[in-house]
Amino acid sequence: MPSPFTPYLGTVPKTFVGRAKEIADFENFLNEAKSNKPSSILLTGQRGIGKTVLLKYFSGIAKQNRFYPVYLALDESSAAPAALAKRIFGRVKAVLEEEIITLKTKKLVKKIDPKISLKLHDMEVELSSSLRAEEINEDNFVISLGKLLGKRHVCIFSDETQSVLRNGVARFIVNTLYAELPDYASNWVFVLAGIPVLEEKILKATPADRAFQKMELSGLNPQEVSTMLQKTVKGTKVTFQKEACEDIVNDTQGMPYYVQFFGDKLFNLIETGAITKDFYLQNKKHVLKELGDTVFTTRIKDLEKRGLYADVLLQFAFLDRQKGVTANEVSNKISTYAGPYIKELETKGFIVKTSRGKYRITDDLFRGWLCKKYK
Ligand SMILES: Nc1ncnc2c1ncn2[C@@H]1O[C@H](COP(=O)(O)OP(=O)(O)O)[C@@H](O)[C@H]1O
Ligand SMILES: [Mg+2]
Repeated sequence: MPSPFTPYLGTVPKTFVGRAKEIADFENFLNEAKSNKPSSILLTGQRGIGKTVLLKYFSGIAKQNRFYPVYLALDESSAAPAALAKRIFGRVKAVLEEEIITLKTKKLVKKIDPKISLKLHDMEVELSSSLRAEEINEDNFVISLGKLLGKRHVCIFSDETQSVLRNGVARFIVNTLYAELPDYASNWVFVLAGIPVLEEKILKATPADRAFQKMELSGLNPQEVSTMLQKTVKGTKVTFQKEACEDIVNDTQGMPYYVQFFGDKLFNLIETGAITKDFYLQNKKHVLKELGDTVFTTRIKDLEKRGLYADVLLQFAFLDRQKGVTANEVSNKISTYAGPYIKELETKGFIVKTSRGKYRITDDLFRGWLCKKYK
């Protein structure tokens, strides 16, 4: 029987666990948006913590609440205000155009429903009078998007948002969502998702702290990890014993990606039977080796190709301290000024700021592997 686990980024798991608080908060934001109070939310967390999957979950909730969900996975090609404006506007418009097609099919099925045909007519008129995405620039963006949104209930999700935050983009986003767009439309919720550096960059450009609501994802708790492991294998010949689950929680820090990865490998190793604490302890090194050979090796190889990044990262692994390591300490070790490399490693999510000028690799499994392999 194939493994029911999903150790793949962005893949909706068979058993979704946790995030109750985030879901309740999100539902509140939708309700507020219905009464003309728009919200901008910052959803942050390490890679593999479950942001994309949560956005997909939010999308479903948005739909149930009669919001149009608009999902955008951003990348560096939108790392300038005008490019980002085109991208957002283009996606919103595309989603509304799809809606027209859906309504047309509905109308066909139901012959002529006066309510639907009226709505259809209005939407067609509005969309045809709006600009094309190529015509959008940073000056006409807000008013054009505002017209497009109108009184519609729309939820926009931007994923991997950290990848666009160059050249004044953070300030552009803050101005748009906080200061300008609410004057033109007010039934929207905008969720900006990304790794922790997103928050720092956005807040630096934020006039008021309350401009963005914050949701910070952390690891799953022991109960959630056990539920995820045990429910995912329901209907197969494999079970997870409680004590094994407890060990997996500790070793994975409750990081959903790693829990899926561990669950998957253990499932394939045993195929039939109970995963006990003993079985786990005996096979843990295989699982870790595979994680190293596949995931971690690729990560570090990509950095090695680009010069000193890997050396700088290794120093963070070797010098590791709970309260973080400074750029100077790392620079001394590699006899080069490490500042620019550190900034880039932070933007890519390898390290996070712990306090002023200090950084740390947050992923314990990765850090442990780097030390073992390279020290
Ligand atoms: N709430 C959850 N319950 C169970 N598995 C999850 C959950 N969230 C994420 N996962 C799993 O964890 C992995 C990483 O999720 P993803 O959303 O891609 O993380 P991120 O976008 O933060 O990098 C995926 O394999 C996904 O199936
Ligand atoms: Mg993601």
